[in-house]
Amino acid sequence: MSTRARKVLVTRAIFPEVVRSLEKRFEVEHNEEDRPWGSDELARRLQGCAGVMATVMDKFDEALLERCPELRAISNIAVGYNNVDVAAATRRGIRVTNTPGVLDDTTADLTWALLMAAARRIAEGDAYVREGGWKIAFGVQFFLGQDIHHATLGIIGMGRIGQAVARRARGFDMRVVYHNRKPLASVDEQRIGASWMEMEHLLAVSDFVVCMVPYSPATHHLIGAAQIAKMKPTAILVNSARGGVVDDAALVAALTAKRIAGAGLDVFEGEPGLHPGFLELRNVVMTPHIGSASRATRLMMCETAAANLAAVLDGSRPAHLVNPQAEQQHHTQGNP
Ligand code: DGY
Repeated sequence: MSTRARKVLVTRAIFPEVVRSLEKRFEVEHNEEDRPWGSDELARRLQGCAGVMATVMDKFDEALLERCPELRAISNIAVGYNNVDVAAATRRGIRVTNTPGVLDDTTADLTWALLMAAARRIAEGDAYVREGGWKIAFGVQFFLGQDIHHATLGIIGMGRIGQAVARRARGFDMRVVYHNRKPLASVDEQRIGASWMEMEHLLAVSDFVVCMVPYSPATHHLIGAAQIAKMKPTAILVNSARGGVVDDAALVAALTAKRIAGAGLDVFEGEPGLHPGFLELRNVVMTPHIGSASRATRLMMCETAAANLAAVLDGSRPAHLVNPQAEQQHHTQGNP
């Protein structure tokens, strides 16, 4: 079958130039309206599609995949792919791809923006000025925050984005410690300027704890009440990885009790819903899942996802294949 005749679905509004490049090769249905589709609508629109370019909001579970027998490729416009039941996709020979690498620096920048905003109470100060609360020009004890320079930064999850966060700490003369299941090679630790620690130790010594792990059942509520209890009362927690890595109920309780000094959050459990209590707290800075949201980076993510999709449908190995075992399954099923 010629690839020109094949149909692909793009589940959200993306960049017109990327849609145009896909249209040169495929019949494309594009959700220009950008209204997220529920699973019934997604399943209906996927009928007859060989591939889909999707976001983390689109859930590809077993039940949905069962309804889409012609689907060959799920190309996530994201580095994370916890929206896809990868095992179920693999069993069906469906290739799953993601967009690692292109968003590391942009996500690290946003992580630092949250860290700095929480440490120096930027959002709180901005609201204070706007709401007319600023009546006395200067006060010695006014809006006191935490020092960032020479502090200890603890990174949980030292993958590409974690390393980009660590590199930025050099300019602040920080001590950087990290926890990973497996420590990095010492040559990499030296290059990054970070040393491995048990998580308990990291929580106890860090002034800033940054979560950079992908979400999976193993990382669900990695940071809960017990872990927060180990942190310094002056510490700040930053989560720009995934909702669910932090137990939001435990975090709201800790911030309410001023058990820790603050938090900077870009991701939430059940987003866009927020755990009750977050909105009333002054010591938390929140952004709406925009870690990789610069124009240049989102364009590169879309281009990468489109290239991954085209590679699968062309029968070649995409640059970012999450489940290589699916290729084997695809051939076992008698497909070319
Ligand atoms: C990612 O790339 O995983 C971002 O969170 C966007 O979904």
